[in-house]
Amino acid sequence: MEIEAILGKEKLDRNDLMMLLQATDEDKKLLFQRAEKIKLAEVGKKVHFRGLVEFSNICGKDCYYCGIRKSNRAVHRYDVTDEQILESARFAYEHDYGSLVLQSGELESPAFTDRIEKLLRSIKQISHGELGVTLSLGEQKKEVYERWYEAGAHRYLLRIETSNPELYRLYHPSDKLHDFARRLTSLQTLKRIGYQTGTGVMIGLPFQDTLQLADDLLFMKQFDVDMVGMGPYIEHRHTPLFQYRHELLPIRERFDLSLKMIAALRILMKDINIAAATALQAIDPLGREKAVKVGANIIMPNITPGKYRNDYALYENKPCVDEEPEECLNCLDVRIQLTDGEIGYGEWGDSKHFQKRTAVM
Ligand code: 5AD
Ligand code: FES
Repeated sequence: MEIEAILGKEKLDRNDLMMLLQATDEDKKLLFQRAEKIKLAEVGKKVHFRGLVEFSNICGKDCYYCGIRKSNRAVHRYDVTDEQILESARFAYEHDYGSLVLQSGELESPAFTDRIEKLLRSIKQISHGELGVTLSLGEQKKEVYERWYEAGAHRYLLRIETSNPELYRLYHPSDKLHDFARRLTSLQTLKRIGYQTGTGVMIGLPFQDTLQLADDLLFMKQFDVDMVGMGPYIEHRHTPLFQYRHELLPIRERFDLSLKMIAALRILMKDINIAAATALQAIDPLGREKAVKVGANIIMPNITPGKYRNDYALYENKPCVDEEPEECLNCLDVRIQLTDGEIGYGEWGDSKHFQKRTAVM
């Protein structure tokens, strides 16, 4: 009864959201059904692709959860050549993906800035301006964000990881490179420049519970984000956070909690783009499809050239590392049809929220 009352409310507060995140059995079903209904009404049944190119795992940062952190000597570092990146862009364009995401470890340098700027111009050129480009390249100076925006990137993903500054400090070294305030400022800068701005958090981190997760959802609402990508935290043995693995929720529960986060967010922010995180699929082969069912509308198929995929291991058990992009596409097509969804081939699938937010009155 209580869940129905919450789902009927106009405005959800922290307690309501905590209740939703703790829902089980019938209550959970009601939550999922409501989220699905809202998604169909507000953004429709189309799922849009963002072809993901993880072009380098070289990272200047040392986040305690991440498998490609600087101090992890056990990773083989790679950097895909520009020609290969453009090859992936061509693949995305020719297969009507609509958009591309460029992601890598976090680096800040004039050479890196130039490189991305040139790549953006080339991607726009080879796709006749048709391929939308999202960047996911971490914290950068305002001027850098501006140059990349000028060069054609129009969306940026920067996960806040957790909106709680104390928890943030637990998961990152205490230095200037890993400063919560700078991350927040970066997000604000991106939005001000005009990017469709996306953020997200990890779900089921050690010492995090539904109270902080409810606050994460409220943070997204309050920040008025256009897009969200969030998924379960998955421990990686070569990281400092691995020592807290006994504190974690069982992996299935982290998965379940992630689906509830997506559903609750869809109810809270009806018209944003929500990505079905790949980490979901690392836990459940049908993870992304389940996320689409309860509110997600974006999938990021990995189109990184095959031989590098194993090395971009932010977490363990990463899915699809042995498939070539071509195989993934066929597989995804079938999978989405199975969820009653439809792929928006060749479309940008911009965030409706962004369109409304920026519409000239
Ligand atoms: N488990 C799940 N997600 C992770 N990320 C990094 N490490 C992990 C992990 N161990 C996520 C972070 C980052 C994104 C690129 O990948 O949220 O922003
Ligand atoms: Fe990659 Fe199915 S989506 S193999």
